[in-house]
Amino acid sequence: MVRKRHTRMIAKPTWKLAPSILAADFSRLGEQMAEAEAAGVDYFHVDVMDGHFVPNITFGPSVVESIRKITKLPLDIHLMIENPDQYIPQFARAGGDFLTVHAEASKHLHQTVHLIREHGKKPGIALNPATPITAIEELVNDVDLILIMTVNPGFGGQQFIKSGVDKIKRMRQLLDACGSKAELAVDGGVNAQTIADVAGAGATMLVAGSAIYTPKESVATAVQRLRGTLAKATT
Ligand code: DX5
Ligand code: ZN
Repeated sequence: MVRKRHTRMIAKPTWKLAPSILAADFSRLGEQMAEAEAAGVDYFHVDVMDGHFVPNITFGPSVVESIRKITKLPLDIHLMIENPDQYIPQFARAGGDFLTVHAEASKHLHQTVHLIREHGKKPGIALNPATPITAIEELVNDVDLILIMTVNPGFGGQQFIKSGVDKIKRMRQLLDACGSKAELAVDGGVNAQTIADVAGAGATMLVAGSAIYTPKESVATAVQRLRGTLAKATT
């Protein structure tokens, strides 16, 4: 009797690495972005802070416009700002691909998400560590990205908040239950020690600042280390 051989197909997740340029040396930002691009990263994560929603100030649309010219990779603009609706047109014009707003910063989140869509951009919603996933349950099918913060936003180089792993798992279940193909991003304290846990929990986009831009090693070595850790954890 000839038995048919069945090959079990397991879809292997492909994780996208998104360096946060917040940790880069701004005096040679172009160079540092080129290094990351050459090392094979997938996105750039751009942290916009207004000194109100978070206690730190970074950069605005003109910086986004400049970096748009030097990379072909998609830009995820993480808007840690109050009144996001007011600035969406400018960041859309500047060349962001994903515009990610904080659930806590918008009074009418449905409207904000659709405003981003109307500007031809992919809407994302970020959740602070204390914000439950139920806060965006009604909008899961309206967005292209959900970003789970695993630090309180405002600064790079902070300690990973461990309860974020379970939150990512629950968000993954919700996205799957809704049939959503949105990217599930994780941001804050992602490094060689934490990356396997967040990827295993179901994140698809891994944002890393200080683990990629570090004086300890080159960007290429840091990217290889993170990819190697992921590969080891999943074989
Ligand atoms: C924090 C920012 C993060 C930050 C991550 O408010 O949203 O994107 O750059 O930095 P690391 O990876 O160093 O925690
Ligand atoms: Zn960020």
